[in-house]
Amino acid sequence: MLKGFIFDLDGVVTDSAKYHLAAWGELAKQLGITLPATANEALRGRSRMDSLAIILGYGDQQKQYTEVEKENLADEKNRRYLQLIANMTPADILPGISQLLSDAKARHLKLAIASASKNAPTILRQLKLFDQFDAIVDPASLHRGKPDPEIFIKAQNLLQLQADEVVSFEDASAGIAAINAAGQFSVGIGDAKALAAADYFVANTGLLRLKSITTAFTKWQN
Ligand code: G6P
Ligand code: MG
Repeated sequence: MLKGFIFDLDGVVTDSAKYHLAAWGELAKQLGITLPATANEALRGRSRMDSLAIILGYGDQQKQYTEVEKENLADEKNRRYLQLIANMTPADILPGISQLLSDAKARHLKLAIASASKNAPTILRQLKLFDQFDAIVDPASLHRGKPDPEIFIKAQNLLQLQADEVVSFEDASAGIAAINAAGQFSVGIGDAKALAAADYFVANTGLLRLKSITTAFTKWQN
C-alpha cells in the first residue's frame, strides 16, 4: 500500500537547479573554464564537492588544487548561490506541487525531502513548506551521494516505511538511479531521455496527479 512520498528538492519542488547552474557557471568563468551544454544534466543532484569535481574536470587536467583551495571554491559558489536564492518566495513553488502535497496529506501519506543540498531547509522555509514535511534528510549524515541509494533509504527509514510503500520524485538521472537502487517506485520529472529509467514519467510538475501516480504504483507493486 502507498504510504509515503519522498521528494528531491532542486528541480522538483522548485526550480533552484537553475541557480545552482548559474553559480557554478560564474565560478567556472573565473577559473577560465567553459561549461559544456551537458553540464546542466551532469550537475543535477550531485553533492557540492562532487559538482566541483565535475566543474574542475571540464578545465585544465594538469592544474592541481589542494583540499583547502577546493573548499574555498565550493564556499565561493555557495555564497553566490545564497545570494541568488535569497529572494525566493512561495510563488517559486513549481506548478502542481502544492496541489500534490495537499492531495497526499488528505490521503494521510507521510512526506519527506531527500535533497543533497545543505541549503534545503533554507529554501523550504522561504517557500513556506518547511512544516509540510515529516522528515528532511540531513545530507551531512550521508556517506555517498546520488546515484547511491543511501539518501532515499534514509528518507524511507525516517518515515518508518518500507521500500515498496513509497514513491520518490526526481528530476535527475542520478536521482532516478538512486531511487531504483533503493527498490522504490521512481517518478521522473523533466527530460524523457535522461529519465528513461524512471518507473513513471511526466515532462513537468504541472502534469503530476495523485490518482495517476497511485494507479501506476499499484500496477508496479503487483
Ligand atoms: C542538489 C542539487 C545539486 C547541488 C546539491 C548540493 O542535489 O541538485 O545541484 O549541487 O544539491 O547543494 P548545496 O546547496 O549543498 O551546495
Ligand atoms: Mg534535483
